[in-house]
Amino acid sequence: MRQPLIAGNWKMNGTRASAESLIQGVLKGSSGIAKTDIAVCVPFVFLELGQRMLSGSPVRLGAQNVCTEASGAYTGETSAGMLNEFGCRYVICGHSERREYYGETDAIVAKKLTMVASAGMTPILCVGETLEQREQGFMETVIASQIDAIIGANGIESFGQIEIAYEPVWAIGTGKTATPEQAQDVHAFIRARIAEHDAAIAEKVRVLYGGSMKPSNAAELLAMADIDGGLIGGASLVAEDFLAICQAG
Ligand code: G3P
Repeated sequence: MRQPLIAGNWKMNGTRASAESLIQGVLKGSSGIAKTDIAVCVPFVFLELGQRMLSGSPVRLGAQNVCTEASGAYTGETSAGMLNEFGCRYVICGHSERREYYGETDAIVAKKLTMVASAGMTPILCVGETLEQREQGFMETVIASQIDAIIGANGIESFGQIEIAYEPVWAIGTGKTATPEQAQDVHAFIRARIAEHDAAIAEKVRVLYGGSMKPSNAAELLAMADIDGGLIGGASLVAEDFLAICQAG
């Protein structure tokens, strides 16, 4: 059985004071949650604060992006080595917002996954379809293409060191959550796609759900056989809500 992972994706939100208070709240409330891995993926500027506050605690620190290069003349970028130095355990790669707003292709995402894993951290690979792609019947084609691109670039063995997050673009930030059955169907499809190459890796890899997961719907989503956790946006900005989702894990 795969232990669930609930990771908060704060996106570009917070102040130093609110970040400190939110981490304090998560730390305080997480002590009684034993059977769920918990992480908070914070903006780069809060990494030092997160490293200091989370040091020695079971709550893991994560980042939301990484450079495709190890170091050098890449103004504004942050390397995997820097993230590792600041205590990151997870790095979100290929979030749909980065694919849409910053033109991240599957090839770029594959390079980021490699940089993160090579630095000793665990990448969270985001995949997902738009509403238009789903309505036109292309959901499986899109998801298969995103998974196959990483298998082609990095090899199936790379899936032994990553987490996957299925994030239907149409459910992100909209309050329109996928039904447990819709999400389960896609999670099972992702696992089967990986199993075509390596059954053991397919069984082991965690597939998280992201897209308006809230305290009100977390339990029914997390009860599904192939949903192994959540990547939480809005609800991760409120400690009580994030902890309620972690509790449901
Ligand atoms: O990465 C998680 C995020 O995209 C989901 O956002 O606000 O729908 O939980 P939200």
